[in-house]
Amino acid sequence: MEGLMDGLPNELFTALRDVADYGYDDAWAMPGAFYVSPEMLDLERREIFAREWLCVGRADEIPGPGDYFTTDILGEPIAVVRGHDGAVRALSNVCRHRAMPVLSGSGTARRLVCPYHSWTYDTAGQLIGAPLMQGREDFDKKGCRLPEFGCEVWQGFVFVHLDPEAAPLAPRLADLDKRIAGYHFEAMHTRHVTHEIWETNWKSFVENFMEGYHLSALHKETLHPVNPTRLCEHFPSGDAYFGYTVGFDPSMARERIGHPDLTDAEIDTCVMIAIPPNLVIGGASDYSSFICFEPASTDAIRAKLGLFFHGDAWTEEQVDRAIVLFHDTMEEDKSVLDHIGRGLRSSRYTPGPLAAAPYEGCVLDLHKYVARRLNGAVAAVR
Ligand SMILES: [Fe+2]
Repeated sequence: MEGLMDGLPNELFTALRDVADYGYDDAWAMPGAFYVSPEMLDLERREIFAREWLCVGRADEIPGPGDYFTTDILGEPIAVVRGHDGAVRALSNVCRHRAMPVLSGSGTARRLVCPYHSWTYDTAGQLIGAPLMQGREDFDKKGCRLPEFGCEVWQGFVFVHLDPEAAPLAPRLADLDKRIAGYHFEAMHTRHVTHEIWETNWKSFVENFMEGYHLSALHKETLHPVNPTRLCEHFPSGDAYFGYTVGFDPSMARERIGHPDLTDAEIDTCVMIAIPPNLVIGGASDYSSFICFEPASTDAIRAKLGLFFHGDAWTEEQVDRAIVLFHDTMEEDKSVLDHIGRGLRSSRYTPGPLAAAPYEGCVLDLHKYVARRLNGAVAAVR
């Protein structure tokens, strides 16, 4: 661990240690360095992102055999492919010949064919063809396959782990499953996916998505009439998740659509969930949103945003209305997040007190998660 924390400002060590002792009634925001220090991001990449399950999208984006999409995690080209056996796999998207990425974008392929020399793999990653290579008797085609990363589907979300031997994610989310079982996210249909760059630190992004304090203030016209701050409630966090709920304003006419397993109270409530580090979900009975991302720098994330719907009775027009409301709301969040990076760099910024648990409890949950994951590294230095 020697040298791991080199370059981190002292106030950050102190803040990362203090976070462990904060409760929801006496928590403080984190210093600017928590967000703007490149050394902090390096540390997070090594200690958190390289060692955690990371969401890359929804399993129903690739419903049929041979359906795939590609992504990058910490510079690793990855193809998420549904095999002809029905399993979703995260394959190294690097040809075993001379390193060309085999697939690009998304689509459907009966076989995975590298565009460079037509080396061909089956949908489970086994090499099945290499033109004009018959003469190479020292080359074992049967033993040649695209390496696999860890891959797990939870509630319809696909997670990838760079370590194929990583401990499974689902047991760490078992308590959350009990809380949200009725929504059946795994059975909802993804109808909209888009990719965006957001000019924000990844933690500022998660904090913003996961606190209801700003709903009535920033989203006056969009969210306040639907999900006002006064209806927010925090729920206990676990090792691998945290969240809060926000009720639908009773004065708002809203179609009561949802899975029959849901109670009336659940149909009247949004459940906001973070599976740190890189997935946030805005869950509701009728339709839900998700954003997963990878940090591009201290000041930017590469985000994948999507909406998924209960049932298939939704018309294009209804789906489009949901998309517009979602993106209008996200633009309001961007308008704030675009500027926070500058504020966090100010020499005059000192962290302020956080609002009570229903409003900003998840901000503390995120800080505690980060401090916990960096704990070994912090302890090794001091
Ligand atoms: Fe917001």
